[in-house]
Amino acid sequence: MKSCNTFGRIVLVLLLYLFPLYLLSAERIDIIIPKPQKCVASKGHFVLNKQTGYSSDSRLAVNAIVYLQEHLKQSAGYRLSKRSRSKAALHFHYTLKSVKKAEGYRLIISKENIQIEARDSAGFFYGVVSLLQLMDPVIWGTKRAKNIWSIPSCNIEDYPRFKWRGLMLDSSRNFFSKSYVEKFIDRMAQHKLNRFHWHLTDDEGWRIEIKKYPLLTSVGAKRGPGTKLPFSTYPAMRGSKKRVQSGYYSQKDIREIVTYAKARAIEIIPEIDMPAHAKAALISYPKLLKDPQDKSRYRSVQMVSNNTLNPGMDSTYVFIDNVIAEVSRLFPFGYIHVGGDEVPKGAWKKSPAVVQIMQKKGLKNNQEVEEYFFTRIDKILEKHHKKMVTWQEVWKDKNSLRDKNIYMAWKSTNAAKKIMKTGNNVILAPVEYLYFDQQYRKSKGEPGHTWSTPVSTKKTYSFTPLHSSYVKGIEACLWSETLLNIKIADYLTWPRALALSEAAWTEQSQRQWKNFKKRVSEYGLPRLKIQGIHYRPMVR
Ligand code: ACM
Repeated sequence: MKSCNTFGRIVLVLLLYLFPLYLLSAERIDIIIPKPQKCVASKGHFVLNKQTGYSSDSRLAVNAIVYLQEHLKQSAGYRLSKRSRSKAALHFHYTLKSVKKAEGYRLIISKENIQIEARDSAGFFYGVVSLLQLMDPVIWGTKRAKNIWSIPSCNIEDYPRFKWRGLMLDSSRNFFSKSYVEKFIDRMAQHKLNRFHWHLTDDEGWRIEIKKYPLLTSVGAKRGPGTKLPFSTYPAMRGSKKRVQSGYYSQKDIREIVTYAKARAIEIIPEIDMPAHAKAALISYPKLLKDPQDKSRYRSVQMVSNNTLNPGMDSTYVFIDNVIAEVSRLFPFGYIHVGGDEVPKGAWKKSPAVVQIMQKKGLKNNQEVEEYFFTRIDKILEKHHKKMVTWQEVWKDKNSLRDKNIYMAWKSTNAAKKIMKTGNNVILAPVEYLYFDQQYRKSKGEPGHTWSTPVSTKKTYSFTPLHSSYVKGIEACLWSETLLNIKIADYLTWPRALALSEAAWTEQSQRQWKNFKKRVSEYGLPRLKIQGIHYRPMVR
């Protein structure tokens, strides 16, 4: 009994001494966003300087090494030199043993050396991203800042919760330059987001060069006075309504952007929105896409008139096939998004071509015409070896679309549940948590849309994704009708995208708003600030 008491006392004393110490040191490195699954602090610092050498036993580490070197070159003025394993303090090690999950990594930092372990290219990249986040935030800047970098010792074991961690940018309603798109992608990569959904076509502009159909960009990428595309409810970026707004990405631009993203472990999902949201295509090629005898007159929810491709004409499908052929060659990722949202009531009603196809195929109503349309689009995508992503409207209880396709549930989480019940895959993008075009809070002084509820950073952070093998991931959407300049685009994205990254990456049990808020204020925002990002202050 006595010895037990003594033992107990020793344990108590040890706990009293060691526990606060552990807490203190753990606190010191609680700075990574998204929060790693496991991060244990240890004593001391690794000091990185010009003499530090690196080694690698895997080609898969190349992107990670280049990324690290670029940041060091800009902020420290030097690159690390390559050494033999025994002479290198920083080592990249390929292993299937200690890293079990795809995109996972281990980052072990001691006073003497740093080891980054991974099993794939993304894992090495994320190891480096975490390493950079542990350094002084000036590492993210473009100016030469310091020579010597002190990095806290720790042992991190990390992997993503979801495979699809997406962010959408709408380049149609307002055009963003190639350089802004690259910055946008880089900031995603800094927070381990890995799917850039690029909304490239809509009523207000067609933004991707298609060699077979040059009018799509020479006509369909311009709007404003004297063009065939009037301003709709919102003016264009940097524009008074008196100026023509134009812009598109050449195929060369796109190839460069794809390469840039790939080097940052990001895949790009291009979106060619159809059959609605297609005014820009319609005014460019009316003969191919409009039934000349169609007397239907209708408006979209955004008040754009007659904006829907005709699903009764063969020329529509030939056009789409040719467009998808070029898009498929430009974007190596296995998925293409083909829209499917918000087909206006009244579209096609008076089109003889649609009446004819309804009779021929026994289609009873507009819903069935839409199903017929997407069955044909799915076949076109299959021919080009792509799977299909659509908005939730394309899902039907029973349909003949391929099982591997993905539906994006944007209206509600309930919509996602319905889709999953029929054994189909979903991406969760519920408007009330993940639509970054909405205001942060209801106020005249806040930029952004008001057609849904406000989406505060806390609201985004509180999003608790459904748990199911049908949930392929989560995604936030930055629609751009109100993004009249890039300051507004930055403001509406950050810091909500930080909350998105943590909801997508970090296990639910590791997430806590207070802890996140502190990390964002102390570390996340300074990292954005040094990059000149016009983020919204972290008030709530
Ligand atoms: C959507 O917001 N129309 C997908």
